[in-house]
Amino acid sequence: MLQATGLWAHLGGRAVLNGVDFHARPGQITAIVGPNGSGKTTLMRRLTGDLTGPGEVTLGGDPLARLSPRALALRRAVLPQAGTLGFPFTLREVVRMGHQAGAAAPEPGIVEAALDEVGLGAKIDGLFQDMSGGEQARGHLARVRAQVWHPVQEGRPAWLFVDEPVAALDIGHQLQVMAVLRRFADAGGGVIAVMHDLNLTAMHAERIVLMEAGRIAAAGPPAEVMTGPLLSRAYRCQLCLNTAPEQGIWLLPHAASLG
Ligand SMILES: Nc1ncnc2c1ncn2[C@@H]1O[C@H](COP(=O)(O)OP(=O)(O)OP(=O)(O)O)[C@@H](O)[C@H]1O
Ligand SMILES: [Mg+2]
Repeated sequence: MLQATGLWAHLGGRAVLNGVDFHARPGQITAIVGPNGSGKTTLMRRLTGDLTGPGEVTLGGDPLARLSPRALALRRAVLPQAGTLGFPFTLREVVRMGHQAGAAAPEPGIVEAALDEVGLGAKIDGLFQDMSGGEQARGHLARVRAQVWHPVQEGRPAWLFVDEPVAALDIGHQLQVMAVLRRFADAGGGVIAVMHDLNLTAMHAERIVLMEAGRIAAAGPPAEVMTGPLLSRAYRCQLCLNTAPEQGIWLLPHAASLG
């Protein structure tokens, strides 16, 4: 279980997170959604320990603040929203760096398996900076998967934090990446994903946390959070929401709100 209480963040002279309480369970995909600037990335950075501040985060009962960087790297991997690489590494080297950061003892075959999982096995010896935007995004996902390759390690769940993992991807690769996250959760790991695509989110997440202006506006299973009133208010637009339960939940953007 990942548990956070009373998380505040002050950035640029103002409160960006206002005392947020948050929890996520291993074996599930927990999605964080909400409009641009609502505090999703900031919340994620507090949950991963990359940003410190008032409030407490515990991972399996252990306060994050008491875990060493090495202990943290063994238990959770983080895919940031924007990642660039300034050096001419091959895909194999990038993914190997991830594996070495998280494995107590590096295991043969993991780098290759992580790249196969995202459909990049054939490009393993290509230069990372020569890959397309979507290939680089999947390469980065392979890197964090290789860091926490085993969803459960020594009886403890590992955690994947991914900030907009499908933003640069075509629809086929979006589904491929969501399947990677699904398998990790089904095998006992925890997944926390910042998402903008609400349809993919409704299809895959067990629990959705909707952020609005540095606060949690709603949290619960898709049926509770994916409602017209909640989403229209948060995103300030009109949505056409499917209401036939046997067809699942899906929505279409309808119109920009006036004002
Ligand atoms: N380092 C910083 N310094 C000043 N302000 C910041 C900093 N980081 C974030 N902010 C502000 O905090 C707010 C929340 O930012 P955050 O990146 O968490 O939003 P987000 O919900 O992830 O948005 P997006 O969907 O655009 O990625 C924004 O208004 C942003 O300008
Ligand atoms: Mg963000």
